[in-house]
Amino acid sequence: MTSTARPSAGTLAPPTSPVVAVRYADGVLWAIDQTELPWRERDLKLTDAEEVAAAIKRLAIRGAPLIGVAAGYGVALELMSDPRPEALDRACALLREARPTAVNLARAVDRVAGAAAAAPSGERADAALHEARAIENEELAASDAIARHGAELLAHASRILTHCNTGALAAPGRGTALAVIAELAVRGTLSEVIATESRPLLQGTRLTAYELSRLAIAHQLIVDSAAAGLIASGAVDAVVVGCDRVAANGDVANKVGTYGLALAASAAAIPFVVAGPTSTIDEDCPSGDGISIEERDPDEISSVGGRRLAPPGTPCRNPAFDVTPAALVTALVTERGIAQPVTTDSLLALKQ
Ligand code: MRU
Repeated sequence: MTSTARPSAGTLAPPTSPVVAVRYADGVLWAIDQTELPWRERDLKLTDAEEVAAAIKRLAIRGAPLIGVAAGYGVALELMSDPRPEALDRACALLREARPTAVNLARAVDRVAGAAAAAPSGERADAALHEARAIENEELAASDAIARHGAELLAHASRILTHCNTGALAAPGRGTALAVIAELAVRGTLSEVIATESRPLLQGTRLTAYELSRLAIAHQLIVDSAAAGLIASGAVDAVVVGCDRVAANGDVANKVGTYGLALAASAAAIPFVVAGPTSTIDEDCPSGDGISIEERDPDEISSVGGRRLAPPGTPCRNPAFDVTPAALVTALVTERGIAQPVTTDSLLALKQ
């Protein structure tokens, strides 16, 4: 793996231009290294499944739909260099294990591997690449449709609070929840975005603020613990977040802290809206209890910016996601339409 600075490094792109987080060309997956944003816009050059899995694991590539897309290309890249079935199995296992919560990743790996396995032996890499491209194009189209549906639902919400990063850095196109927000800005009904910093890896501070600046959308950054008080004070019209996995009953796994935002929104009687493609709905997982929650390195919370702050030996627990019960979700906005209320039946109707 190598990395290359983007030509535009250090400068802001023209407003309304979303960043392109991953791009496949000629046997290489180029991915902006999100761990370096917003300080450096540097592309990683990824050429096999192992490199793609490592980039996903350390969150250089992140966001549920985007890790699915990248993993699909990871399978194809591996088959280009080693067409043996054992190589395919190894690549799939590596990619699947990179992160457990977002269902998009395992689904994309299975889909691309299935397409390769069904192809004649000399055409497996081509079949895998074709399928990986199909997944990327589907997510791209989904982003636009989610933006439109979400903007119609939230036409009367002008101050929106969002969590983590759900824009072009998290999904092809304009993203999911941030795509809705960007569409509201285009339609002229948005006055302000309140973005949480999203501890411990600060996707809100580093990535959402970066994207909103590029899009010239007015925003304010807050510490995560300020959100409930601001919502209670009447400063927020709606909370809009993304999702990593939606169980069959509508329970939603998303970035840790989402559940608290849903409780605060419910107490203040404002909408709590989740936006995501139907590829994030896991109909094989009956409820949130069945969702595997990623536990990350405790050092991510005991240290800040590479400097250790907690006393040596402090025990830390670092779940990266939490589960919000369906009853607290006002609506789930997908590319196929809106589930409202969010129930087993309304999700089934969307998936059919
Ligand atoms: O750990 P991350 O940064 O991959 O977490 C991302 C999120 O939780 C997003 O809200 C989610 O993937 C939706 S992305 C469109």
